[in-house]
Amino acid sequence: MDLFQVHDRISWLRNRLNEANNQYYQDAQPTMSDSEYDSLMAELIQLESTHQLQTPDSPSVRVGGTVTKSFETVTHKTPLLSLSNTYNEGELLDFDRRIKDILGHADFSYSAELKFDGMALRLTYKNGFLVEGATRGNGVEGDNITTNVKTVKDIPLKLNVELFGGELDIRGEAFMEREAFAAFNEQREADGEQAFANPRNATAGSLKLQESKVVASRPIRFFAYDLIIDNPPKDFNQVQKLNWLKEMGLPVCEHRKHCSSIQEVIQVIQEWDELRHHLPYDTDGVVVKVNEDRFRDTLGRTAKAPRWAIAYKYQAEQAETILNDITLQVGRLGTITPVAELEPVFLAGTTVKRASLHNEDEILRKDIRIGDKVLVEKAGEIIPQVVSVVNPERENRSQPFKMRSDCPECGSTLVKTEGEVAWRCENLTCPPQIRHKIEYFASRTAMQIEGLGEAIVDQLVTEGLIQTYADLYDLKLEQIANLERMGEKSAQNLIQSLEDSKKRPFDKVLYSLGIRFVGATVARDLAEHFRSIDAIIQADFEALTAVDSIGPRIAESVIEFFSNDENRAMVEKLKLAGLQFQLQEKQVSSNKLEGKTFVLTGTLPTMKREQASELILEHGGKVSSSVSKKTDYVLAGEEAGSKLEKARNLGVPVITEEEFLNLINE
Ligand code: IVH
Repeated sequence: MDLFQVHDRISWLRNRLNEANNQYYQDAQPTMSDSEYDSLMAELIQLESTHQLQTPDSPSVRVGGTVTKSFETVTHKTPLLSLSNTYNEGELLDFDRRIKDILGHADFSYSAELKFDGMALRLTYKNGFLVEGATRGNGVEGDNITTNVKTVKDIPLKLNVELFGGELDIRGEAFMEREAFAAFNEQREADGEQAFANPRNATAGSLKLQESKVVASRPIRFFAYDLIIDNPPKDFNQVQKLNWLKEMGLPVCEHRKHCSSIQEVIQVIQEWDELRHHLPYDTDGVVVKVNEDRFRDTLGRTAKAPRWAIAYKYQAEQAETILNDITLQVGRLGTITPVAELEPVFLAGTTVKRASLHNEDEILRKDIRIGDKVLVEKAGEIIPQVVSVVNPERENRSQPFKMRSDCPECGSTLVKTEGEVAWRCENLTCPPQIRHKIEYFASRTAMQIEGLGEAIVDQLVTEGLIQTYADLYDLKLEQIANLERMGEKSAQNLIQSLEDSKKRPFDKVLYSLGIRFVGATVARDLAEHFRSIDAIIQADFEALTAVDSIGPRIAESVIEFFSNDENRAMVEKLKLAGLQFQLQEKQVSSNKLEGKTFVLTGTLPTMKREQASELILEHGGKVSSSVSKKTDYVLAGEEAGSKLEKARNLGVPVITEEEFLNLINE
């Protein structure tokens, strides 16, 4: 490709990727498969870096890659105030009256918007480009989390119209949709990481991560709700701001209403009390704002909140019940999670029997004790939480909760690492850990061993047939067939699945080993960077942290895993069983083009260039973007440019699509 073609290709890739993003996020109508997206993105990143053509608004920025040790503190140009809350209509009428007292009979109106339950962000755009993203912090100063914010696909890197020159601030809420949150949390638990209590915590936790590549994989969304510009027009108002935000390309929630009176606002609030449960994201109220900015100036603010706005908060659905017990669950990596065993109670459509208490600190903070009457709430609409103890002052309460010092399953001493909230059982042979590790290894996102569910794993371990996942491949048909609720047929299927799993690619095998913090993305990066398990085992801290997405925490975890003799022995055993411990180059369907380097140019008669590239790789060849003496063939179509000329000058054979296909098919 000459430089013009590189520019063209980059611009085509960016448009295509942006379009796919919009279709996915704005229209909820995906049109591109994940693998196509990944491959176009990889091509873009490669072209941009080879030719040093990165721009701050390229979709490649979304992939992340930076690791921030500690976020810089930044001051907000205008403070991010909070809102005063109200829970009833009386207080809302008081609010309206206060405003009328100050404004007299001025003709003002209200904007009623949903109150999203997420994390507030401030975005700064300069000449149309996103230059800074910051957390609210204490309202005056926040953290500069620009690199993380740029991975949020909802947030434009460049405004699509520049309605205002210079610099402008946008405020809004980052959040996760309930379903995406649930799926993410499930995966997290499967990965042996502590689950988040609700979408809000997950969003805030994600945006404060040091590794932006990990942030990029989190399902974070954004709604803008405020726009701040220098020299605003005299008649600036909230309704107009939201319309403008939308026009500039920011996601703005459709559910907003311009109301002429507080009665109309109250009606909106009543309507949303029920309807909000059908939204895909959590909302906890309605924000009522005086629409016209000129009145806002007159109304002013208190130290913390403006006098021109108020948040009407809905009561969460709650119920009282008795806490019968606090049990401890041991996760795959030994993380201990305390669980509230509740007297069953009906709450918002389901019977609640158990609720996660998250960790020891949480229990002590709320002083939750066995036998207490507790208030349970469905905050995230799905996950029940213990909010508080109903009458903590009563007599004869049981003793404060005390974390036991030994693992409830294996008796080893529990440990807590500095800076972490969770206690862990470090005994690698602790039975539930062994079972969870095997279940994880077999799961769909890992080795995809169908028919190896919890019940079978349990039996295999209890019967002493396997001790670790590495023993799975020693299993004999009759051993499996003899298990309860297993027959010859299911046993055969399981043996077949085990056999099939040997074809799983290296990155999935690496993921399946269950190294702490090595989720799917990190596993893929490690596999691509080091290309073999031996290289990863040998890599030291420096070599590991040299990988874009890998920070110190992950690096240490990888080193710790492989410095354990038993883990290395398991890897050796799996190697002997025939699992993939090396990066396979693109699925090679023949090696007819092995050692041959191709350069593509011009428009081919029937194939797209990507298809031709895929074919070359599939048959063992390589694709390069520039012609040199080392090029074996230039595959040229119509309107081929300077590359064709260069090929001729260097004497490199130039072939047509037909000749190319003959090379493969002969
Ligand atoms: S307006 C001074 N609008 O609620 C104006 N805030 O308690 C304050 N929030 O931290 C912001 N949805 O993150 C506004 N439609 C909305 C909102 C909203 C959620 C959050 C915001 C803020 C908190 C204030």
